[in-house]
Amino acid sequence: MKILGHRGAAGTTPENTLISFVKGLELGVDGFEFDVQLSRDREVVIIHDERVDRTSDGIGWVKDYSLKELKSLNFGVGFKTYAPIPTLEELLEMFQDKSLIINVEIKTGLIQYPGIVAQVAGLLEKYNVTNQSIISSFEHRTIVEVIKDFPNLKTGLLYECGLISPWLYAQDMGASHLHPHYAFISPELVRECHARGIGVNTWTVNEEWEIERAIVSGADIAITNYPERFSHLRSE
Ligand code: G3P
Ligand code: CA
Repeated sequence: MKILGHRGAAGTTPENTLISFVKGLELGVDGFEFDVQLSRDREVVIIHDERVDRTSDGIGWVKDYSLKELKSLNFGVGFKTYAPIPTLEELLEMFQDKSLIINVEIKTGLIQYPGIVAQVAGLLEKYNVTNQSIISSFEHRTIVEVIKDFPNLKTGLLYECGLISPWLYAQDMGASHLHPHYAFISPELVRECHARGIGVNTWTVNEEWEIERAIVSGADIAITNYPERFSHLRSE
């Protein structure tokens, strides 16, 4: 099972900042999962929420800030440190030679960002990491768009509810991966997916029993806030 650092190494460092991604790398991750939104001047920035309030010293919607304005905020306040918001381009530039799995979660919820898929795909192409990247989203229309417009990209259907035969859903849609919450993984799910060539990547696997559940299921990837907890298990 491969390990992706969730928002970097969000359990111990400011989520979705370069400090957190560097920490994840130090902890031996196979790649990263992170979230993207668009600034007012249409830069792809790495941040989970549609607003800056929870993770920075600012207030308001990401979409209302220019990149320069976002860069003036501190996203390290929760950890009593300084950490600016990174752009997707900065992250790709920093890690392009590391052969990491890049899982970009496209956040299209309350706020819609027309064109964000093409922008993300363009940057992955520019840094020559398309083959090692997965685009995931809870909004499955976004996944349909990726499959249609960027068939070279892998796709992950995010969900956190019980679905009947989700492997058939993924197969019919043409998605390459399911991304279930760990509560919805099982050996049967993984078996049915693998029989159809569909990968299973589960999240956010933090506690010991959750890690055990992911391992027993046979999932391909576990996404975690605490990559160090997996290093310990894997070295036993
Ligand atoms: O992609 C897995 C996970 O990150 C989805 O939930 O809310 O942490 O983005 P969330
Ligand atoms: Ca996410």
